[in-house]
Amino acid sequence: MIKRLTIAIDGPAGAGKSTVARGVAERLGYTYVDTGAMYRAVALQSLRLGISPKDEEGMAALLDETSIVYRTGKTLLNGEDVSEDIRTPQVTALVSGVARIPLVRAFLVECQRRMGAEGGVVMDGRDVGTVILPEAELKIFLTASLQERARRRQLEWLARGAEVTWEEVEQEIGVRDKMDRERKVGPLRIADDAVVIDSTELDVNEVVDQIVQLALAIKGEETP
Ligand code: DC
Repeated sequence: MIKRLTIAIDGPAGAGKSTVARGVAERLGYTYVDTGAMYRAVALQSLRLGISPKDEEGMAALLDETSIVYRTGKTLLNGEDVSEDIRTPQVTALVSGVARIPLVRAFLVECQRRMGAEGGVVMDGRDVGTVILPEAELKIFLTASLQERARRRQLEWLARGAEVTWEEVEQEIGVRDKMDRERKVGPLRIADDAVVIDSTELDVNEVVDQIVQLALAIKGEETP
């Protein structure tokens, strides 16, 4: 019997993936890995160094000199804790462009595979179940209506003190969704064996419960 599962949670921006994934990891005593944070760290470094994502050689040199580590909820860029700096509107606007670059994806996917190799991991992102960990025992595709996702993201921005309108957020995540779905390498798509959960009408605890129950069923255990 498999004891420590690998759980992949993919879906579009604002579907609640990170909150849900963190909750599932806590309930099962697993490690949570936020793969989006790692793409954000690469975007932050390209902003800091003034390297355009279109400059292939520049991005290759950047990756050569960059270490990105995601550990216990913190994102480390060359050893510096950048967990806050990667959430700015500037990084958010740039990140989907950076995430389309095959070199960047190859660099991060290799790192993320190593992080998932031991099991006992809940990893969230766009391509976890399809590319990073295609052997994951449980794959979830978490989604919600665009309106609801924009509403949730707006609340997050407001809580961080950024004054944004609902329309601005809807526009921003609409553009990111399109780029994430249409890119050639590792696009956002539903894995054939994923369980789709629409969280438009559900709260976080309900979604966490559903996923924990699916995990326990795979492990052959009763719900606690
Ligand atoms: O989940 P997030 O909003 O923090 O992700 C930031 C961006 O990173 C998102 O627009 C798409 C990209 N991303 C990706 O391409 N692949 C992943 N596994 C995770 C995120």
